[in-house]
Amino acid sequence: MTKTEMIAEINRLRREKNAVILSHYYQDKSIQDIANFVGDSLVLAQHAARTNAEIIVFAGVHFMAETAKIVNPSKKVLLPDLSAGCSLSDSCPPEEFAKFVANHPDHIVVSYINCSAAIKTMSDIICTSSNALKIIESIPKEKPIIFAPDKNLGKYLIRETGRDMLLWDGVCVVHEAFSFDKMVALKRKYPSAKIIAHPESEEQILKLAKFVGSTSALLKYVKTTPDQMYIVATEPGILHQMQQIASHKTYIPAPVEEDNTCACSECAYMKVNTLEKLLRCMQLESPEILIDSEIIAKAKIPLEKMFQCSYG
Ligand code: 13P
Ligand code: SF4
Repeated sequence: MTKTEMIAEINRLRREKNAVILSHYYQDKSIQDIANFVGDSLVLAQHAARTNAEIIVFAGVHFMAETAKIVNPSKKVLLPDLSAGCSLSDSCPPEEFAKFVANHPDHIVVSYINCSAAIKTMSDIICTSSNALKIIESIPKEKPIIFAPDKNLGKYLIRETGRDMLLWDGVCVVHEAFSFDKMVALKRKYPSAKIIAHPESEEQILKLAKFVGSTSALLKYVKTTPDQMYIVATEPGILHQMQQIASHKTYIPAPVEEDNTCACSECAYMKVNTLEKLLRCMQLESPEILIDSEIIAKAKIPLEKMFQCSYG
């Protein structure tokens, strides 16, 4: 099948099955282009919660599709490839986290949305990178906080809010890979370029950055600032949207420490989804995300608290 034929068939199935395709900004551009909606973790979760479609095809990673199922359990949620995991989510095993939480019973548990449904059931409130500051600031000052699983985002929040939080030791392999020395050299080569970074990046990278924000905040920044060149410290899938919203500007993916196969910071988990797999999952209505109803009921509570705290 050619790419054009695949797109035609995806469009036909989407109409026939009343399906909506949601894509994260880190997906391959062919998937972003065919999606009904492209967004960051928060906006995609909000969209999944209120969709009228019968089927949600989630072009993203497992925790995102799982979140869609939790917030809208009557829908069938499909993930093109079930192996689309996340290193951050994997870095927080539920049994160990349960012990950690039990050892600090007076703490409010704030979990980054990049975690499993099991971790969500043990959390008081969920956050994403676009609402994390607001959520931490909404917690009474005298309340101690556990923040999991991303220690880089956690450290960033501590610096920004002045709150002393107990951090889980998890990281995103993609955002950990950026090279400080190469970044400094790149900035020296292009002095007018502005470094912008996702808060999952290490502290030394964030300190170099002119702006730190979620994927949607980074997009807004390049759209609304007058600069012509940006060094972008996050997954390079986002460059596709940047090139669309401000095509006259130049975007340089931030350099990584070790040259991997693609010599860039692509998220291998995000990129296991392909147009072929998207089509196949719509044809077969599989792989489907299935979650125990008790887990859904428990995990929904902190997600709904996050939604309430994200408005206004
Ligand atoms: P946001 O799109 O919410 O900024 O999150 C980035 C991310 O790591 C998704 O895996
Ligand atoms: Fe997980 Fe990092 Fe990939 Fe996002 S970019 S899905 S946090 S491994």
